[in-house]
Amino acid sequence: MPVPLPIAIRTNPMPASHRYTDVLPRIDALCEGEDNAVALMATIACELYRIEGFDWVGFYRVVAPGKLKVGPYQGGHGCLAIPFDRGVCGAAARERATQIVDDVDAFPGHIACSSSTRSEIVLPVIDDQGRLIAVLDIDSDTPAYFGEADRAALEAMLKRHFGKALDLT
Ligand code: SME
Repeated sequence: MPVPLPIAIRTNPMPASHRYTDVLPRIDALCEGEDNAVALMATIACELYRIEGFDWVGFYRVVAPGKLKVGPYQGGHGCLAIPFDRGVCGAAARERATQIVDDVDAFPGHIACSSSTRSEIVLPVIDDQGRLIAVLDIDSDTPAYFGEADRAALEAMLKRHFGKALDLT
């Protein structure tokens, strides 16, 4: 008798280059003409969370020098505040550079909001004046889930929607 595979094993994850085929055009259509940063973040988090293997998607906003606070997100509850000197989000904010972490247990200072998270990508969100306004954090329960295709697609999407004059109220 065949032994069923445990359902937790993803035998055929969608290749990263195809993850965004449906979602990005929808984000572009929904966000067209919107300049309110929180409205953009809420819509983008909602849409990205539908991608297979994206188990937490959300923004941390810069609310004071060196301080991030949780913003619009989808998934289980996230930590509310993250200083720039802590965690993957802090590193992305401090360095203003995308962080890809294949194994969160190997990242010094990783902040575990959920014990099931295995890998993550965190990208800086920068406005048209070069100000860091937030970071976008995506976590997966699958190890090494994010790569260069994710970085390229997500960085371009963030530039399209936040690299303009924004309403930050
Ligand atoms: N893991 C992140 C913290 C945010 S939560 O995972 C939602 C970090 O280390 O910065």
